[in-house]
Amino acid sequence: MPLTILVTGGAGYVGSHTTLELLIAGHSVVCVDNLSNAFKDGNAILPEALRRVQNITGQQVIFYPIDLRDSCGLKNIFKKHKIDCVAHFAALKAVGESCRQPLQYYQNNITGTGILLEAMAEAKVFKLVYSSSATVYGEPQFLPITESHPTGNCTSPYGKSKYFVEEILKDLCLSDDRWSVISLRYFNPVGAHSSGSIGEDPNGEPNNLMPYISQVAVGRRKTLNVYGTDYDTKDGTGVRDYIHITDLAEGHVCAIKKLGSADVKGFLTYNLGTGNGYSVLEVVEAFSKASGRKVAYVESPRRPGDIATSYADASLAEAELGWKAKRGLKEMCEDTWKWQRQNPNGFSRSQL
Ligand code: NAD
Ligand code: WQD
Repeated sequence: MPLTILVTGGAGYVGSHTTLELLIAGHSVVCVDNLSNAFKDGNAILPEALRRVQNITGQQVIFYPIDLRDSCGLKNIFKKHKIDCVAHFAALKAVGESCRQPLQYYQNNITGTGILLEAMAEAKVFKLVYSSSATVYGEPQFLPITESHPTGNCTSPYGKSKYFVEEILKDLCLSDDRWSVISLRYFNPVGAHSSGSIGEDPNGEPNNLMPYISQVAVGRRKTLNVYGTDYDTKDGTGVRDYIHITDLAEGHVCAIKKLGSADVKGFLTYNLGTGNGYSVLEVVEAFSKASGRKVAYVESPRRPGDIATSYADASLAEAELGWKAKRGLKEMCEDTWKWQRQNPNGFSRSQL
């Protein structure tokens, strides 16, 4: 059934790709974003990522440049549109920055979510999909990581903000059985839409591996630092469960469908990953192959706070959401490269 979804943080990386898949699935989308980490050209109505989503899908996106902490602004949106469900992506997400500015992260990610939940309750909208992260598991106690793995042992204020919000959502669902919330714990989202027209556009120096590699390949950066070559892994470098952004976006469409069934109540969590772990050097190799470019790297000391290995048991999402990641590392690298090659400087200075 076509629904109207409010997407917070819709101009960002995961939000824009999910908006695209929601539109393709026949839903209507209303986005809010304060543009703190998204590009909008001068007097344009839409942020660039959403303008391109409209071009790709031929469907309209409604956009409000609103901060989640603007309670009145948010409540007005719920008055103006009959929202069926909220997909909540808006958050600050840089791990290192969160250690330097914890209050900003708690204010934005936790207070912002609280204000959103109040606006939802006032509008009697009780269905929410939340962007959580494998970071809530902290250092893995066993592998692959299942949803029943203990949470909360996070090392950064960013990670804690993701965990605290999960706890708030759990309490909220316990307090009032009208709420149904699905928390999706993403492993490592990478890649871009297959058109190469939207993708990840980090501000300044990328914190994450894949955008760093692709900026080296395109000539924007000289060398990749490989953080740690002495981990207890296949080749000594960190191992992660990379998941194609379109698979991740499709996971949200499945979660929203699930929230529509009458028997779903309370707080549910699902891992979104592929179940495969790749090392940093394997990703470098796969990217070189996909791009035909050499990716120069230097071996560097471990990055503080990093873990050796993380990968998901994603079987619960398959059993209960009917979702499974379909795209492998090759496609993740090819699509990242297509986006990077077509948009060497991201959204801000390319013409598409
Ligand atoms: P992103 O920065 O690209 O997108 C987030 C968007 O939210 C940005 O457009 C930003 O401008 C907006 N925003 C931030 N604070 C806001 C506020 N107070 N009000 C309104 N808009 C606000 O990040 P992303 O990679 O798309 O991440 C989306 C969500 O997924 C986040 O909640 C993040 O914690 C979670 N997540 C991301 C990853 C990842 O590796 N990308 C992994 C796990 C979880
Ligand atoms: C992957 C691997 C690095 C950069 C982070 C957040 C997590 C989640 C996803 C939001 C590691 C190595 C990296 C580089 C490198 N985000 N690396 N050189 O750390 O698994 O997860 O993003 O929720 O919370 O912590 O992802 O891409 O930063 O690192 O060698 O320049 O690549 O050491 O082994 P990570 P990542």
